[in-house]
Amino acid sequence: MELTQKVKNIQEKWDANFMKTYAQIPVVMDKGEGATITDIDGKKYVDFTSGIGVSSLGYGHKGLVEAIQYQASKLLHSSNIFFNQPHVEAGAKLIALSGYDKVFFCNSGTEANEGAMKIARKYSDLKYGGDRGTILSLNKSFHGRTMASLMATGKEAYHKYFYPLPTGYKYVEKNDIEAFKEALKDETICAFIFEAVQGEGGVYPINKDFIEEAVKLCQEKDIVVICDEVQAGMGRTGKLFGFQEFDIKPDLVTMAKGLAGGIPVGGILADEKVSDVLVPGDHGTTFGGNALAMAAANVVLDELEKPEFLADVAKKGDYIMDTVKSWGLDEIVEVRGKGLMIGIEIKGSASEIEKVAAQKGLLILTAGEHVIRLLPPLVISIDEINKGLEILKECL
Ligand SMILES: Cc1ncc(COP(=O)(O)O)c(C=O)c1O
Repeated sequence: MELTQKVKNIQEKWDANFMKTYAQIPVVMDKGEGATITDIDGKKYVDFTSGIGVSSLGYGHKGLVEAIQYQASKLLHSSNIFFNQPHVEAGAKLIALSGYDKVFFCNSGTEANEGAMKIARKYSDLKYGGDRGTILSLNKSFHGRTMASLMATGKEAYHKYFYPLPTGYKYVEKNDIEAFKEALKDETICAFIFEAVQGEGGVYPINKDFIEEAVKLCQEKDIVVICDEVQAGMGRTGKLFGFQEFDIKPDLVTMAKGLAGGIPVGGILADEKVSDVLVPGDHGTTFGGNALAMAAANVVLDELEKPEFLADVAKKGDYIMDTVKSWGLDEIVEVRGKGLMIGIEIKGSASEIEKVAAQKGLLILTAGEHVIRLLPPLVISIDEINKGLEILKECL
C-alpha cells in the first residue's frame, strides 16, 4: 500500500510511543457519515466493521451526536456514590426491553464477563460452599483479555505467557452434547459461559439443539448460565440478543460494544435467581454508568426498542449472505452468520483480502486465518451494502 506523507508521519509517531499491541492497517480515520468513513487524505471507505461491532448507529447519527453533546455540556461524570438520570433511564429501558430482573453497567466486554463470573461464583459459594467455582466454556470462544475472561476464553494462544494462570476453568467442544454431559460430571462447575454466535472464533452460530439441551442440563444442576452477548447482542443478529433465537433464558447476559454506539460501556443483566447476589462492597467500578455513556446508550436502546429496526437488520443480513452465496465463487468455502454478523470462510488468507479491500475502499474484519468477518453498522443503507459487496467480490 502506497502511504502518503501524512500517514507516514502518524505511523512514525505511533511506533515511537506505543506498545506494539496492534498490527494496524496503515489508514488514519478522520470522520464518518452513515456507514462510510473518510480517512485523513479524503479517501472514502464503506465500513463493514463498525469499529469491531461498536458503531451500531453508524457515524454522525443525529440523535446520538445531539444526546452526547447535550450530556457533555451538562454533566460528564458524577460516580456511583450518587444517582444520575441517564444511568437510571438506561437501566430501566434495558430491563423493560429484555425482561430481565436487574442490571449493572460497567465499561467493557471483558469487565462485564468478569462481573458475571463473580456473581456465579458467589451464588455457588453461598449455596454450596467454596469448592464449587469452576467456569465451563467452549473451545474457540472469546470472552476478553483480563485474567478471568482470558481464562474463560477457550483458546490456549490467549493464555500463553501469562503465568501463573488463574485456576478453575474447563473447556468443552461446542455442539457436542455427549462431551458436554461428560464435562458436567465435574461437580465443581458453578457456571457455563457461551456466545450465541462465536465471533472471534470464526463466526459460528451455536446449534439450537445443543444449546437448548446444554442449558437444560445446567439448570438441572443449578449451574449458572452466562450468555456473552458482547458481540452478538444489542441488535446485531436481528434480535436484541443472539440467544433469543433459541428457547432458553440464561441467568446472566453480558454486553458491551454496540450498547452505546461508540462510547465505552459494558453491562450485565441478571435474572431473578442471581439478581441479588451482589451486595455493597462486592463489586463496582468508577466509570460504570457514567452519564455520557448512558446518554449514548439511551439513544441506542430507543432504536433497539423498534421491532422494524431489528427486522431491517435481519433483512439486510440475509441480503448480504444471499448475495455472497449467489456469486458461486470457488474461493468461498462457506457463508454463515446471523443478521449483520457474517462470516465468509475462504480458501486463501482473510488478512490478505482485508488489506486489499482497504486499498479499494472497503473495511472488513477477519476471524482467524480463513474467515472474513462482516459487522457493518446496523443502520447501513442498501446502497452502501451494494457498494461494499461489489468491492468484496472484486477482491475475492
Ligand atoms: C464475545 C466477546 N466477549 C468479550 C469481548 C471483550 O470485549 P472488550 O474488548 O470490550 O473487553 C469481546 C471482544 O471482542 C467479544 O467478542
